[in-house]
Amino acid sequence: MILVVGAKGMLGQDLMTLLGTEARGVDIEDIDITSMESVQKVLVTLKPRVVINAAAYTDVDGCESNQELAMQVNGEGVAHLALISKEIGAKLVQISTDYVFDGGKGSPYLEDDPPRPLSVYGESKLAGEMNACFNPDHLIVRTQWLYGLHGKNFVETMLRLAAEKKELSVVDDQIGSPTWTVDLSLAIKALIDKGCCGTYHAANGGFCSWNEFARVIFAEAGMGITVNPMSTAELGRPAPRPLYSTLDCGKLNRDAGFQPQPWQEALKNYLNLRRQ
Ligand SMILES: NC(=O)c1ccc[n+]([C@@H]2O[C@H](COP(=O)([O-])OP(=O)(O)OC[C@H]3O[C@@H](n4cnc5c(N)ncnc54)[C@H](OP(=O)(O)O)[C@@H]3O)[C@@H](O)[C@H]2O)c1
Repeated sequence: MILVVGAKGMLGQDLMTLLGTEARGVDIEDIDITSMESVQKVLVTLKPRVVINAAAYTDVDGCESNQELAMQVNGEGVAHLALISKEIGAKLVQISTDYVFDGGKGSPYLEDDPPRPLSVYGESKLAGEMNACFNPDHLIVRTQWLYGLHGKNFVETMLRLAAEKKELSVVDDQIGSPTWTVDLSLAIKALIDKGCCGTYHAANGGFCSWNEFARVIFAEAGMGITVNPMSTAELGRPAPRPLYSTLDCGKLNRDAGFQPQPWQEALKNYLNLRRQ
């Protein structure tokens, strides 16, 4: 059995659908990953062969003012999962982020490029990556710019704003790969099925700015909204973001034989599914 921790989150729900009867899901009502006792009780009782940790404190700006909570959930929580999964002989799959990088490389990041987080969220997720290594049988899957049917995300925010406004300003100086949680779930399953270990990057193919992403969302949705450019500095969010954090996913393709579809195709498929 595969145990999905954070099963009610945006990624967690798509993982549960994909894995079907093979999966069992738990979330904050069943397990608090910040407590070693709670993690031990659940893992020792359920004895999964794989634990996928999709639980996290994901409010990037909120982490700046709640550093302690960010480290407890995203850092120490992973240590608890790693130690107990090791004890029961299970593999740990830890979901991580492009925000472990500073965005200054100027070309797609490889798995072994040195991390240098800019934000508290990035620091806490990097601590989680290091703590995942307490279980030698671990997979760290870094991803970025997620959207899906079951959570707050950029696509849903744009579609909501478009219903209220005729014109929007969206940042055009952050570059990344929008990634559908269904495609990320398929990548995670492929890595598990092939018995892969270590660190992998998984994102939809190609890249764009948030501004271009917004334009394509409106074009695909048939909405005539004017999208103006805006800089990250002008937006003035509390947490600094990497400006160029595209992830090179070649290792995922080589080792697991899986290549996520281009982001434009994924978006079309998502919007079609959303209309049903
Ligand atoms: N969203 C993105 O753009 C993005 C980008 C890169 C990487 N990631 C990573 O991808 C993974 C999934 O992200 P997501 O957006 O699907 O997350 P999400 O929707 O925020 O779901 C996270 C889940 O974890 C639960 N949780 C929080 N604290 C917990 C605790 N102490 N113990 C147990 N469960 C807890 C949350 O419950 P509550 O809702 O009740 O707090 C929520 O159900 C995370 O590791 C995230 O860091 C996300």
